[in-house]
Amino acid sequence: MNTEILSTHTPELFQKAVRRAVELLRAGEVVALPTETVYGLAANALDEKAVAKIFQIKGRPANNPIIVHVAGNEMAKRCVNHWSEPADKLSQSFWPGPLTLVLPRAKEIPGNVTAGGETVGVRWPGHPFIQAVIRECGFPLAAPSANLSNQISPTNAEHVRQQLGGKIPLIVDGAQSQVGIESTVLDLSVSPPQILRPGMIHAESLAAVIGNIQHPTSDAQHPKLKSPGLLKKHYSPKAKLLVLNWKDDADLKSQLVTRHLSPATCFVIAHTKIPSGENFAGVSVIPHDAEAFARALYAELHRCDEAGAKLIVVERPPESPEWSGVADRLRRAAA
Ligand code: TXA
Ligand code: MG
Repeated sequence: MNTEILSTHTPELFQKAVRRAVELLRAGEVVALPTETVYGLAANALDEKAVAKIFQIKGRPANNPIIVHVAGNEMAKRCVNHWSEPADKLSQSFWPGPLTLVLPRAKEIPGNVTAGGETVGVRWPGHPFIQAVIRECGFPLAAPSANLSNQISPTNAEHVRQQLGGKIPLIVDGAQSQVGIESTVLDLSVSPPQILRPGMIHAESLAAVIGNIQHPTSDAQHPKLKSPGLLKKHYSPKAKLLVLNWKDDADLKSQLVTRHLSPATCFVIAHTKIPSGENFAGVSVIPHDAEAFARALYAELHRCDEAGAKLIVVERPPESPEWSGVADRLRRAAA
């Protein structure tokens, strides 16, 4: 299949891309669209056959439910059978934005979207392009991240092309995703509400709006997999990834050697203690700021994959709440 790639950087191109995306989505096709978190692989969320194509294209297991993207609270309410007070408060505080709310599903949502479950994840994304597409379609869009199952999520159109080029009719280029990691997923169908996947909207911010919430549980405490995004290994680059702290270059080298790893084959991603380039296969500096770090992280991992890296070492991020989403993705990538 020939994959059309459309840009959006002038008002005319933006409108043209919206029209083309809407045309394909109305015809039951699957297209890759930018969102502020990561790029999404979108289909009409009310069309079971279109949604089935998403699973097939990604190689996604059927037990992994897909987030439904809406443009506005009215559309969100039509996707669920009970819009609770916490949902209302959270949507007012954080939508449009990188927060997915899991609620009891409406009957209109096909079973493959919810993976046969009784809940649906709903998100109003902040990116103007996907908002315009949803408004124009008039129906919500089911969209997982636009990567092959278990690979790193794409944060630009080129990442999508590398993984899905030739498999979908359209990729819309809406520039670099500004958040850079996937949305926080909060389950409001249980009491107290539970974070299923940490993201840039962290537990403390959510608790400030709705009170008590439960932090993510580890796999061991989670015998019945509620959200496959909780799988320990997920979001991984092809290389082995380690998260380490080091005092200086010599310390980092000796930690690698102790692990029988060669510094010369190692790509280092550092934010504070920047090693000198000559000792390692590559060194890149990532900002020491949670938001900027998240924005850059997947692009760095994609770059290491492209360079054929066998080993990536990332300098451990701080432990404060605003870093919890980044720390979560690094833990999974290292698993
Ligand atoms: O930022 C994002 O959330 C991106 C963009 C495209 O919106 N989407 C995304 O989708 O990351 P995906 O499919 O790659 O990850 C969705 C996560 C999965 O871990 C899935 O298991 C969980 O959300 N999820 C979706 N619906 C759920 C539900 N009804 N109950 C529990 N978990 C759910
Ligand atoms: Mg994903």
